[in-house]
Amino acid sequence: MKPTTALLALGTLFSTCAADFWIYEAGGFGDQVPITYFSFYHDVVKCSDLGSGKGQNYLPYENVSKRKGISCDGNGCEGGNPNQVTRFEMNVDWGHYTIYKDRGWKMYDTSDRVVGQCRPDRSKSWLCPGKGLMDGASMFWCQTSVDKF
Ligand SMILES: *[C@@H]1O[C@H](CO)[C@@H](O)[C@H](O)[C@H]1NC(C)=O
Repeated sequence: MKPTTALLALGTLFSTCAADFWIYEAGGFGDQVPITYFSFYHDVVKCSDLGSGKGQNYLPYENVSKRKGISCDGNGCEGGNPNQVTRFEMNVDWGHYTIYKDRGWKMYDTSDRVVGQCRPDRSKSWLCPGKGLMDGASMFWCQTSVDKF
């Protein structure tokens, strides 16, 4: 397949999905909660969304091959520039997927099939005093057919 054809095919595969999602890092910026969580939401987060059940939160671990959580490599993982994340592995309630920078931010399942396309995006954030995870900042926006949360 020519590269242009491949891109068109990807666009067709993922552009019609209403189930795209944002990945945020949350909690660690204001030192209210000393641990960084990774949060998944379909939409840009408003304060009223926090704790509403709309999103999902996962903790980081070194290795998530056998447990739920997030494994992130590179300088951009916690508080840095998400463009410097090299690998973002998510073993979540709705599947087990990995995003690789050196593969153009595509999202892979555990059989190495492309199931989505992400991009680093730091443009969204929240600051919601009184909430458990009172601050958060976006890391990635992903288009995929597989998110079921
Ligand atoms: C996680 O551990 C498994 C073995 O349990 C290993 O095969 C895998 O490479 C490890 N992943 C990372 C990212 O280190």
